[in-house]
Amino acid sequence: MHSISPNINCQWTSPVGVTPYSAKGKPTILMCPPTYFKVEYAINPWMEEATPCDEDLAKRQWEQLYIAITEQAGADVELMEPVEGLPDLVFTANAALVHHDVAVIAHYKHPERRPEEPHCARWFEEHGFNVVTMPEHVFFEGAGDALIWQDRVFAGYKTRTDIASHSLLTAATDLPVLSLELINPRFYHVDVCLCPLADGHLIYSPDAFDEYGRAVIEANVPADKLIPVSAEEAARFACNAVNINDTVIFNQGSTQLTDDLKARGFQVIPVDLSEFLKSGGSSKCLTLRLG
Ligand code: ARG
Repeated sequence: MHSISPNINCQWTSPVGVTPYSAKGKPTILMCPPTYFKVEYAINPWMEEATPCDEDLAKRQWEQLYIAITEQAGADVELMEPVEGLPDLVFTANAALVHHDVAVIAHYKHPERRPEEPHCARWFEEHGFNVVTMPEHVFFEGAGDALIWQDRVFAGYKTRTDIASHSLLTAATDLPVLSLELINPRFYHVDVCLCPLADGHLIYSPDAFDEYGRAVIEANVPADKLIPVSAEEAARFACNAVNINDTVIFNQGSTQLTDDLKARGFQVIPVDLSEFLKSGGSSKCLTLRLG
């Protein structure tokens, strides 16, 4: 395992350069069964306001998502073993930022989620990744706050992830990072308000960013590829979407985004993820693209 520090000029070289996943030519997604999922503590506004979570219903909803990903969208799924006492491990998007064979492991702001870190690091080590960890004082919440679009990364900061992590992401992946301040506590990870899609498309919730953040997004993504999502649909986690080839899967009930995506040739699969919304997560949060 390697640790990166802002003061060390490090280079990441891999003898192979690809993992079995990026070499496979078929999308592979990491998920973690919701065996121990519950809303047990409150570290975001959704959890603070949550009505009681129906854990059996959550399990059935997760299975529907799993079926949509594997049988309908045709991706492979790797499963991480759930751990009792780690209810948020189900949100594998946070586990790491993955780029080819590099996995930059999350270092959580909230102590409640920190016990997930060694579990995730071990998973990536055992599956052939070069594992990179953040310094102790730098918080970084994986692909929840860092999304690869084309040849660059849109990365959120402030609510959970520290901006200091962004230059370390570049050191680890060689990708330039565009830093976006998250200004709305309900959109506390960038993956709940922005989502890269196939063919350079990008959906985003303009209200989740300040004027400067919106200008960064608009300066990078061509206008005909940029798809704004209404505040109402973003609050239903419409931006928290899983995209596999031309299929987009997200929480049910966002008809405007569904129409906008269909008009661009995507097919949309709605899934009811009500019980995960109570924890502040939806379809994309429950997945991590490995290759
Ligand atoms: N309850 C979890 C938390 O607050 C939800 C994480 C959602 N994950 C995500 N990638 N946005 O950390």
